[in-house]
Amino acid sequence: MKAWGRLKAFWRRGSTNRYAVEDIFTPNKPATHTYIERTAVDELLSKALDTPGKQIVIYGESGTGKTTLVRNKLAAKDGMLIWTRCMSSMTFRDCLIDAFDSLEVFYDLQVRDRSTTSKSRKAGGNVKLVQGESTRESREEHEVTSQRVLPPSVTPARIASEIGTIGASWILEDFHKLPLEQKKGLSQVMKIFMDISADYPSLKIIAIGAAGTAREVVALEGEMKNRVAELGVPLMTESELRAILTAGEDLLNIQYDKAVADGIVAYSSGLAGVCHQLALNCCLAANVFETAETGVRIGWKAFEKAILQYIEEESDTTRGLFERATKTTRERKYDNRRIVLRALSRFGFAEGATHAEMLSSIRQEYPEYPPGNLSHYLDELRGEERGALVVFDESAGKYRYASPFFHVYAHAIFATPLADKSQVETGVYPSIETLVDQFRSALQKAILGMGDADSIEVRVRLDGKRQRDHQEPGTEPETRL
Ligand SMILES: Nc1ncnc2c1ncn2[C@@H]1O[C@H](COP(=O)(O)OP(=O)(O)O)[C@@H](O)[C@H]1O
Ligand SMILES: [Mg+2]
Repeated sequence: MKAWGRLKAFWRRGSTNRYAVEDIFTPNKPATHTYIERTAVDELLSKALDTPGKQIVIYGESGTGKTTLVRNKLAAKDGMLIWTRCMSSMTFRDCLIDAFDSLEVFYDLQVRDRSTTSKSRKAGGNVKLVQGESTRESREEHEVTSQRVLPPSVTPARIASEIGTIGASWILEDFHKLPLEQKKGLSQVMKIFMDISADYPSLKIIAIGAAGTAREVVALEGEMKNRVAELGVPLMTESELRAILTAGEDLLNIQYDKAVADGIVAYSSGLAGVCHQLALNCCLAANVFETAETGVRIGWKAFEKAILQYIEEESDTTRGLFERATKTTRERKYDNRRIVLRALSRFGFAEGATHAEMLSSIRQEYPEYPPGNLSHYLDELRGEERGALVVFDESAGKYRYASPFFHVYAHAIFATPLADKSQVETGVYPSIETLVDQFRSALQKAILGMGDADSIEVRVRLDGKRQRDHQEPGTEPETRL
């Protein structure tokens, strides 16, 4: 009945809004039209936002939807945002300066040098609110033209009250990247924010970090622990991923074949970003660039192209991440990182493996391998500095690759015994052919029951470049209803 209702709507679509496909499937920016509310974490965030004085730490692996959640939630509340993007080279003081810049209160030394008059503007009157991506631009611009200093009279308390005056929230994105020592500043500043919350009830700091626990984002001290809401954003469930596809289908007047939708969901493995990318690639492969006038069905052929395009685009990035992950500066008894990554690739991608399972797998080859090494390197490989190839699913207590493509890639490069690691060291990485082959068999396993996965036709030239089926833009999509 439900399916029939959808089908009718699919046929009937006429003169409603038209959207560009890139505005619907947004792998590299926060989703708006296809934003899916994630009830549990959404509610917790609302509650924390509505509790005067409550400060917030949001954590979760990269790509689980933290930024999108905060954007959508605060946009719905009409909240004004000061958005500071943290980097590993920054001190906490730099973060304060960044917030200060956003309030347009800084001495422009160049101007002062030229005119010998100091220039300072009081916040509150002429405030430039920084919205997301523009933060970096404005920062880079400032770095070229001026040397920023925090005038001695500007204390964290003053910044807090300036932000409070304009009713804004201060978002510290990627806070986990700050060096450990620098993170301590946040705990103190959160306390200042709390203390003046009687005057400014909506004043908030929201620290966002790509990490498995809130503690990895910021180590909070004593009394702060109870007064800060720590919200974990988990990987997306299958039904949430499907909801993204359905929302996109309605807005673009398309319909993914069941096998295609299943394939996208299976290969997204909880990461909304991958789901958006595959959904987008499918549309482009089927020549759907905007909302279709008459319904378009997206079939297996489009999915096949979408996947190949994804692998082509990903393989350079993935290669770079593996290089970063496995780089060693010192010769040790064990080639730990490779041993760990290789062991993980032996388990099914979706299932992952517990610490114990991985240890017993490694010990078949290295009977004395110490469990402490495994813990240490698993942790390290989850970190962005090592490419964040591995994630830990806390609810299942299992580790796995952060994306199926990493899994496939690992499988391909570690298929030879570790003794032959020179292959990796000399930069002889698998060709696209090998990856595609690996991918095909992984795909067949992952989407059992679809039957026609066998029919994937992959044309690969020996130089590793895929022969594209040239389809001029504007030609008819493959299936019209
Ligand atoms: N609730 C959601 N509904 C739909 N798409 C989402 C949602 N959350 C995230 N996404 C998509 O997932 C990708 C990653 O989201 P992002 O917020 O950048 O993750 P994070 O900040 O945790 O790394 C983006 O493409 C975004 O559009
Ligand atoms: Mg983010």
